[in-house]
Amino acid sequence: MVNQRGNFCVSTRIHYGLGSLEFLSELDIKKALIVSDPFMVKSKMIENVTKQLEKGGIEYTIFSEVIPDPNVSVVVSGVAMAQNICPEAIIAFGGGSAIDTAKGIMYFYTCINGPGQGDLKPRLIVIPTTSGTGSEVTDFAVITDEKAKVKIPLIDKRLMPNHAILDASLVRSLPPAITADTGIDVLTHAIEAYVSTLASDFTDALAEKAIRLVFEYLPKSYQNGSDDEARVKMHNASALAGMAFTHTSLGINHSMAHALGGRFHIPHGRANGILLPYVIDYNSKEEKAAARYAKISELLGLNFISEIYAAKELRNMVKKLKEDLDMPACLKETGISEVEFLASIEALAATAMKDPCTKTNPRVPTRDDIENLFKKAYYGG
Ligand SMILES: NC(=O)c1ccc[n+]([C@@H]2O[C@H](COP(=O)([O-])OP(=O)(O)OC[C@H]3O[C@@H](n4cnc5c(N)ncnc54)[C@H](O)[C@@H]3O)[C@@H](O)[C@H]2O)c1
Ligand SMILES: [Fe+2]
Repeated sequence: MVNQRGNFCVSTRIHYGLGSLEFLSELDIKKALIVSDPFMVKSKMIENVTKQLEKGGIEYTIFSEVIPDPNVSVVVSGVAMAQNICPEAIIAFGGGSAIDTAKGIMYFYTCINGPGQGDLKPRLIVIPTTSGTGSEVTDFAVITDEKAKVKIPLIDKRLMPNHAILDASLVRSLPPAITADTGIDVLTHAIEAYVSTLASDFTDALAEKAIRLVFEYLPKSYQNGSDDEARVKMHNASALAGMAFTHTSLGINHSMAHALGGRFHIPHGRANGILLPYVIDYNSKEEKAAARYAKISELLGLNFISEIYAAKELRNMVKKLKEDLDMPACLKETGISEVEFLASIEALAATAMKDPCTKTNPRVPTRDDIENLFKKAYYGG
């Protein structure tokens, strides 16, 4: 890989380790808006946040209308609340859906109140409770246009969190199926960042570490949610992969997963996991991409005789990981009806082609290529 011109900056301050939530009580602010989902409120997990704010004498309002794959209406409702209270910080607490809702609120709130407000822009503080999206360190958010049934990736500097709090004790309660889905999302971020046309030595270092951590610790997190070491490592892997892909963007795996999520609402990580072996096969027909997959195989200690075989070995290792996590092998197994899927396939491919992630895929796809990939991923094999 020859380095092209670029730059690298991670501006988010990362607070990690047990007790890192205490940082909230040290914030020099008076008012905060907490963005979370109903489960966090009902389960009282939100008290991890509110207790710290109370300790610091900080007033707060909770917006808990977050839904999976957050849509424009939810963001509009959150912006209205922000307009009412004028918070000095927006605190996202939850999985990628809560984080991206908070980012959407921040984006439109600052658009309405005028750009370049300097210190008047609320601080964005992100506390992930899944180890998956890496959204705590990216300038990326995915909001669904519910009418058009498409996910819109929003990419803007204002979406970069000021602070990320990585406290893996918050992830202990994550059920195995969500641990698997979100963990495979981490792997997909890291692999797509590694083979992206914008990859550099800086992003490679992050992606390589994330890939190793996922293969070692995702099965352990899945088998035993109370394995604190595995939870910490997966939480870190998620942020490492996020720091890589916020610089490299992603590839068609994510473009296709966004299209599927917008139309069929299958969990984001599950969609990525189903597509990943097929996308590796497709991309590795391109020589340079095959060489990059071979590097990943090498770092995982796989044996191979040529780069094409190396990519196949990696594909097989991903399939084996998914089997260990009891994940579906194809889209048909997720219950999507065949008639509905085939009727949607042209629209899905058109949406995926337009997705910004397609631009950095290592192989330039045609619409037919994407349609064929969708068919393979539906029927499996
Ligand atoms: N911004 C980015 O960079 C980026 C990257 C990838 C994906 N995404 C987006 O993120 C969203 C998916 O996020 P996700 O995969 O984290 O899922 P999610 O936020 O939708 O959460 C999934 C479920 O897990 C529950 N949950 C969360 N934390 C829990 C915990 N600690 N214990 C028990 N239950 C818990 C939630 O209540 C929810 O029901 C999608 O909308 C996707 O498009 C964004
Ligand atoms: Fe993702």
